[in-house]
Amino acid sequence: MGHRKLKKFAEVAEFPNVIQTHLFPEDGITFPLKGKWKPDYFKNGNPIVLELGCGRGEYTVGLARRFPNRNFIGMDIKGARIWKGAKAAIEENLANAAFVRNRIDFIETYFAPGEASEIWIPFPDPFPGKEQKRLVAPPFIKRYRNLAPSGSIIHLKTDNHDLYEYALEQVNEHHYPLLCHSANVYSDIETLGPDRFALLTEIQTYYEKLFLAAGSKIHYVEFRI
Ligand SMILES: C[S@@+](CC[C@H](N)C(=O)[O-])C[C@H]1O[C@@H](n2cnc3c(N)ncnc32)[C@H](O)[C@@H]1O
Repeated sequence: MGHRKLKKFAEVAEFPNVIQTHLFPEDGITFPLKGKWKPDYFKNGNPIVLELGCGRGEYTVGLARRFPNRNFIGMDIKGARIWKGAKAAIEENLANAAFVRNRIDFIETYFAPGEASEIWIPFPDPFPGKEQKRLVAPPFIKRYRNLAPSGSIIHLKTDNHDLYEYALEQVNEHHYPLLCHSANVYSDIETLGPDRFALLTEIQTYYEKLFLAAGSKIHYVEFRI
């Protein structure tokens, strides 16, 4: 492993806004902030929005800047990526942004029922041929439903047309209320409306920039679970 990555791992372990306890459900240990993120961590009663597979946390940080009256938590397994967003949040004193480093498969270990109210999933790995690993596949939606109240909104942003189609199939199959979708976000302000268009085009993730540079179209699906 490279020296820079090791340095980031060491630093991220000390960041006050990164939780990396590596709890697993079978440990049977209750995560101390579970059900208590608002009073004990954020020290407010504001809603909690999650960014799953957050990578460098562009949505966690970008939304935290725009919405000071909401709390944002990015979750990813890769500590060297989380470093970037966590560092930016520290430097900008964004007390409403935090990160959890672990597998999203264990998300219920960290959040109590009803604790989160909205979920962003920007550019998840599409996992062709491995449906169960997709962050919008039924096992993951089931987990989200265990921590977000009925009717909570999921935002999926992806370059992958098959994953876009898959998400729409899931919405259809499970009768999730579909709020909005677009196969080409950057040329679809009419479908998206100005506020959504701004959030989707002004906040760009690391992977999104790579996909845009390669000429890919960016797709979006917004639905309730
Ligand atoms: C293609 S990257 C996108 C990262 C970021 N959202 C972006 O757009 O730049 C997918 C991210 O999801 C994370 N990821 C995928 N499956 C995961 C899982 N089950 N648990 C935690 N992280 C996961 C990966 O570590 C990776 O950082």
